[in-house]
Amino acid sequence: MTTADSRFVQVDGLSRSFPGERGGEALTVFEQVNFAIARGEFICVIGHSGCGKSTILNILAGLDQPSQGVALMEGREIAGPSLDHGVIFQNHSLLPWQSTLQNVSFAVAARHRDWSRAQILAHSRQYLDLVGLNGVEDRRPSQLSGGMRQRVGIARAFAIEPKLLLMDEPFGALDALTRGTIQDELVRICQQTTQTAFMITHDVDEAMLLADKILLMTNGPKARIAEIVEVSLPRPRSRSTVIFEPNYYPIRNHLVDFLVSRSKTFRDQPPTGYDPRHPPQVRPQADGSAAPQHPATSGAPHDP
Ligand SMILES: Nc1ncnc2c1ncn2[C@@H]1O[C@H](COP(=O)(O)OP(=O)(O)OP(=O)(O)O)[C@@H](O)[C@H]1O
Ligand SMILES: [Mg+2]
Repeated sequence: MTTADSRFVQVDGLSRSFPGERGGEALTVFEQVNFAIARGEFICVIGHSGCGKSTILNILAGLDQPSQGVALMEGREIAGPSLDHGVIFQNHSLLPWQSTLQNVSFAVAARHRDWSRAQILAHSRQYLDLVGLNGVEDRRPSQLSGGMRQRVGIARAFAIEPKLLLMDEPFGALDALTRGTIQDELVRICQQTTQTAFMITHDVDEAMLLADKILLMTNGPKARIAEIVEVSLPRPRSRSTVIFEPNYYPIRNHLVDFLVSRSKTFRDQPPTGYDPRHPPQVRPQADGSAAPQHPATSGAPHDP
């Protein structure tokens, strides 16, 4: 893999502060956030509520600006929204006056200006089918359930086949059965298309099914990336068999231990040698170790 591919997305020294209310002290949500995403890589972010996950995603989407640092895609600063970024928001964001089909097709039409109307509709329907929404194409968002609305947002982001797919807890509002089906679809699509993806989730099993690497964030304010966990589980992965992999529970226990205890103390008592510019990359193993542990230099070549 070339260096350019391993630094498809490069985030350097990112921090975000918000002014204090009524002239009070400014809130620094996170600082010194550094990581890279290789082309075709799937990155998940896990951290407690309020540590700044959605804010980082919004910066990658070009919808927010960092206070310090820079986010680059293909070597260029991400300066504004673009159809190169497909975003699935924490709360679905649909056009209420348009039908389910129109909510997807307007994005497809914007992405493929040279396509015929028939091509646009066929492509949009294909992605609505994928998320199980065939038959409700003509309904408006207000006539759909919460989970169905979220699935329209998912179909729309997939349908534009973006260079970078950004997902903010995309399956949070779905029931367990639908969630499982769409996770399987996402695994399949990402595998087939080598889609590059950045996803926020609170679900460690979901992160382990999907991700090549998981960024663990400390609690905020002034949150940091504490560690980058390599998900050393073979692909293709399936929900029913992945749990039998010898590294499954070592990785899972490492993630849960971080969320339950280490995330609270890490920022104020970082381990010796911790440098937020190069958060350690760890690979929890069946023998109980997290070795090999080495600094993850930003943009370290990685084959997904
Ligand atoms: N526009 C804003 N003005 C002021 N503060 C903001 C703004 N946007 C976000 N914040 C603050 O930044 C912090 C991080 O918010 P963010 O939504 O990124 O957290 P999160 O990690 O996504 O949390 P959750 O898991 O609950 O979704 C919060 O304390 C929030 O109140
Ligand atoms: Mg959020």
